[in-house]
Amino acid sequence: QTEQLQDGFGRRFSYLRLSVTERCNFRCTYCLPNGFHKQAGLPQELSRDEIRRAVQAFARLGLWKLRLTGGEPTVRTDFTQIASELAGIEGIRRVAMTTNGYRLARSAAEWREAGVDAVNVSIDTLDKERFAEVTGKDLLDEVVAGVDAALSAGFGAVKVNSVLMRDLGGSGWQDVLTFVRHRDVAWRFIELMRTTGNVQLHERQATPGAKVRERLLDAGWYALARRDGAGPAVEYAHPDYRGRIGLIAPYEHGFCDSCNRLRLSSRGRLHLCLFGKDGLDLRDLLQSDDQQDELVARIVAAMPGKARGHRLREGDSGATPHLASIGG
Ligand code: GTP
Ligand code: 5AD
Ligand code: SF4
Repeated sequence: QTEQLQDGFGRRFSYLRLSVTERCNFRCTYCLPNGFHKQAGLPQELSRDEIRRAVQAFARLGLWKLRLTGGEPTVRTDFTQIASELAGIEGIRRVAMTTNGYRLARSAAEWREAGVDAVNVSIDTLDKERFAEVTGKDLLDEVVAGVDAALSAGFGAVKVNSVLMRDLGGSGWQDVLTFVRHRDVAWRFIELMRTTGNVQLHERQATPGAKVRERLLDAGWYALARRDGAGPAVEYAHPDYRGRIGLIAPYEHGFCDSCNRLRLSSRGRLHLCLFGKDGLDLRDLLQSDDQQDELVARIVAAMPGKARGHRLREGDSGATPHLASIGG
């Protein structure tokens, strides 16, 4: 009964990014500088049943990798239950999560047990003070302890997300090398993406990923081949280091050619791109198990609307106010 989803450019989709909440307890300068408290209106998050029905439909369409995101997914008190229900859905082979790490040290083992296979954690800088400046929370030590807890809990390699910003400068480079020396982590530098909410910050702080690549190649790091179902990072390895360093460079040409993912927002809207229109509402078809055929048909019918790529280079962030609204 599996149909394979494909768009107008021949791209196939294996990966669903599912945002379970827009809320976050951090206030990263480039994302939610005012925190979630000040956002207008109450969040209308999908219930667990709605989430399950959505994932069942996507699984029928051949998507097999699931990433739980937000906002901060773990601010939902039912996060563990959500993960465990979704891990049991037929066709779902991998459940990953992206977190700011604030609960990781306490809950890594619980999430692993619930069926989460992999964890990505945000650490923009290893300098305590800068970390507090960027995130609004003085929690660097806790987050690093979380990474180590995840490594001990048997998640396999942990991926770290680190947004490149001018002010963070090159001074952190040595810290990053030390961090990845003996840890089974992939430290991925990410080009700061412009959203409608961070235009000025982006102008001041954006810096190209190409600089990181040059630095890596100069220091003897070599690129690894991308794996099936992988995200957009290119990872580099070095014989003297256990961990890897990666680069996510959405501003580079060709970035979108290998797009393999779809997104569902925490309010039940299907987003064909991180930077597109404001999504297609699926929620009315998430109300009962009898609606699965209709739901699948609506998703299939939406696919020709997927654009070839984002228009970030043209300074166009579409309708995306911040990445927390769609799940990054
Ligand atoms: P895996 O490789 O499966 O671990 O996933 P990932 O790296 O895509 O997931 P993660 O949630 O850790 O995202 C890392 C960064 O990549 C975030 O800044 C995301 O916003 C960004 N990202 C993920 N997918 C896309 C995409 O399709 N387009 C763009 N422009 N950025 C993306
Ligand atoms: N540009 C690049 N990365 C971003 N993230 C959030 N907003 C942006 C942005 N504007 C990152 C976070 C987190 C991941 C899910 O997305 O740092 O690691
Ligand atoms: Fe929260 Fe992640 Fe946005 Fe930071 S980047 S405010 S941790 S959702």
